[in-house]
Amino acid sequence: MALSLPRDVVARIKEETDIVEVVRRYVTLNAGGSAFKGLCPFHREKSASFYVNPARQIYKCFGCGEGGDVISFLMKAESLSFPEAVETLARPLDIDLAKYLGEEEETEGERLAHHRANETAARLWQETFWSERGEPARRYLRDRGFQDEILRRFDVGWAPAGSAWLEEALRREGVAPDLALSASLLMRRGQEPPFAYFRSRVMFPVRNVAQRIAGFGGRVLGQGEPKYLNSPESAFFSKGKLLYGYAASRIAVARLKTAILVEGYLDLLALAQAGFANGVATCGTAFTPEQARLLRRGCPTVFLLFDGDRAGLKAAVRACRTAVSQGLEPRVARLPAGEDPDSFLRGREPAALAQVLAAARGYLPFLLAVVAERDGGRLGKERALKLAMGTIASAPDPIRRAYLAQEASELFGIALGIVEREVERLAEGLQRGSGAGEATGPRQAPPAAAPPTPAPGAWLDRAAVEAVMLGHALRDDSGRATALFLQLREGKPLSSPEAEALREELWRWQAARAGGDESSPGRFVQDGWHARDGAYRAYVARLLTGELVPERGDFARAVADGHARLEQADEMERRRSAAAP
Ligand code: UTP
Ligand code: MN
Repeated sequence: MALSLPRDVVARIKEETDIVEVVRRYVTLNAGGSAFKGLCPFHREKSASFYVNPARQIYKCFGCGEGGDVISFLMKAESLSFPEAVETLARPLDIDLAKYLGEEEETEGERLAHHRANETAARLWQETFWSERGEPARRYLRDRGFQDEILRRFDVGWAPAGSAWLEEALRREGVAPDLALSASLLMRRGQEPPFAYFRSRVMFPVRNVAQRIAGFGGRVLGQGEPKYLNSPESAFFSKGKLLYGYAASRIAVARLKTAILVEGYLDLLALAQAGFANGVATCGTAFTPEQARLLRRGCPTVFLLFDGDRAGLKAAVRACRTAVSQGLEPRVARLPAGEDPDSFLRGREPAALAQVLAAARGYLPFLLAVVAERDGGRLGKERALKLAMGTIASAPDPIRRAYLAQEASELFGIALGIVEREVERLAEGLQRGSGAGEATGPRQAPPAAAPPTPAPGAWLDRAAVEAVMLGHALRDDSGRATALFLQLREGKPLSSPEAEALREELWRWQAARAGGDESSPGRFVQDGWHARDGAYRAYVARLLTGELVPERGDFARAVADGHARLEQADEMERRRSAAAP
């Protein structure tokens, strides 16, 4: 969004916000001299090198170099843009950004006016919900097992029957009918008097990441059609770009590094009530690339917790593709048939859901299981593999593709070379199709009439294989994988200066270890990385942050596997040049 605020407003927001108080929401801080000290939220560390200086209102990490003011902290901690961070901080200060906006920000002002109208309506509906008029709505939700606390936390409201009431109440609160009409709180047919869009419905305000109410979902009490009515799609409310509940759960999502995606408003409330703070919900649309990107900014992994029926399975298969295409790792949790998260949690302990989540499978095992259940036989498996190839190819990161290809080869029992070739062929098609390279969703690969025969060995992305090996070497606290890497790849060139620099560091680690130093390779490399340039640090940071390497596993074996693949490629290359005239 275009938001250019006068400098003094930004200065005022910074002045009136206490950085210590904001940082404390994310980091446990201990007082130490003139500063506060804690574990840096932006990199992994065991001893505190993250400082907050209340006098200067800045933070600095001497471990990773991150530093700045309260706005940049919030941007980084919550993956917000500058305007989003400013808006978030302005809210508790009651600073109305709308009045600082000039002509050129007209739509921005309009958006803020919409949000104000929505906040007002939400408040009126909440008051009604907790008043005598809201009794039937309260009874309905209580009968379904929802506690008052959770209903208050999510600002649940009741929009009563009739229309004049809302128009009147909004006007009293300074929201003119024209604004209410343009925010779709009121509607009008022809010249008839306006009517309230939501009548006799339980109201769920849908907030965006900056905590503003973008629109609403409204449920009938009991049976009735349509079951849910949502604010009409507009520039201000677009279901495909919002995630219900994310405004409340983003901190938990960032902390836990996972989100739980459900399909319904009440599923989300049920999750929160059971203590799962990292839930988000689509508002009844298929999971979109925009939503996946929104989540990807906050965490690497999403659990898909959909209805336990056929439609839920289908939705999960599609959502997996969307997630993978945006670099988000899906894990599919399966509820018993006929249950949704809300019904499952009714009469069960939260631990039952925790078990369902713990049993969640990665994309490929899930796909294989679904297919085996449905079709059985080789044909079904083949269909599943083809489906999987397209999804793997849509992953923007070549290393992720390499990983998934390897997993597919093992799971489906197809030679790795064939899977890899096919994946890379499809990936090239996807990239050509999009131009920019970032996959934005299901797309058809162009017909591959006569794919050029790749030079043997040429399809192997050496840099990707090396990165996976180095990632394991770095993350193996025992040091075994590291020692193996150094031994196996000794004297063989690596394909980037960054990889070479990292290998040097690992040699130094080995020397230090021989001299009695007990630090893990990861710790050792982090301690030494200040001396290196940005490209190296970015490379190492990527290997250290966990996307390429599972938490547990046989790290040394991963290094050995990578080595075998590089050797095999070299061997093929040698044979090819020997055969060439
Ligand atoms: P469901 O039909 O699964 O309903 O729709 P639900 O969430 O389980 O609701 P309860 O438990 O019956 O009260 C899932 C989601 O799809 C959207 C809503 O966001 C809903 O939460 N939806 C559904 C609509 O937008 N409109 C509808 O008519 C139905
Ligand atoms: Mn339900």
